[in-house]
Amino acid sequence: MDQDATATLLAALRCQADWGADEPMEPTPAPLRDRVPPGAARWLAGPAPVAPPAPALVARPAPATPAAGFAPAPAAAASLAADAGSLEALRAAIAGFDGSGLRDTATNMVFCDGNPDAGLMLIGEAPGADEDREGRPFVGQSGRLLDRMLASVGLHRANDFYVTNILPWRPPGNRTPTDAEIALFLPFVLRHIALVRPRQLLLLGGTAAKALLRGREGIMRLRGRWHEITVEGLGPVPVLPTLHPAYLLRSPAAKREGWADLVMLRRRLDGQG
Ligand code: URA
Repeated sequence: MDQDATATLLAALRCQADWGADEPMEPTPAPLRDRVPPGAARWLAGPAPVAPPAPALVARPAPATPAAGFAPAPAAAASLAADAGSLEALRAAIAGFDGSGLRDTATNMVFCDGNPDAGLMLIGEAPGADEDREGRPFVGQSGRLLDRMLASVGLHRANDFYVTNILPWRPPGNRTPTDAEIALFLPFVLRHIALVRPRQLLLLGGTAAKALLRGREGIMRLRGRWHEITVEGLGPVPVLPTLHPAYLLRSPAAKREGWADLVMLRRRLDGQG
């Protein structure tokens, strides 16, 4: 094996260790081209496996066309969101919106982190205890895994992506957001996307996928292929759903799928997918 290939394999091994992979996940080694070193300067040659194109899925702000299975958001949320002409105005609108009891039980609102000009926007579920304390998304254990995963494909929060959540307030006890809570905050999320104008969206986990893709399929079926949503004031945006880092912490074997999704994202960012 030449030195270059050895270095690539060692880098891939380091990356797996960084992700917490401490046991083999496949009975046979994956092809070299599927193992991408952290911060890879070059990507292994050859065409990317292309998933069949998904039918376009359309998302518009509630209450005009509420998500399947979701009640329409109150007009107050929709009009507050529509009136926000900047990210700061949107942050203030959400902070002032008193339509949800979550505001009363949370400590801090969690609006965003990262670079809004990066072109890549990540959307998670809702703040946890650490995020509630700090007022920033993905700063706890799952956030640290998220940052390591993205760094392994050369993406760093300070420059390369912007991140927010479906809910801006922590649900008590970290429970899963209800459909009513998702519907309530969806106009704010859609406005957030319209203001950031990302070229790609990465949805982290089932709640974000359910909120924005609006179908009945679960995250396991949605992940691993590109979808498209149309956001009012912006137009069509390519969307890649993937597994939530908290799920990957609980189910390390699923990191293989998480890794495949990030390789797919990296290829798209490099104009190859
Ligand atoms: N999980 C999320 O979905 N979002 C966060 O900000 C933290 C954990």
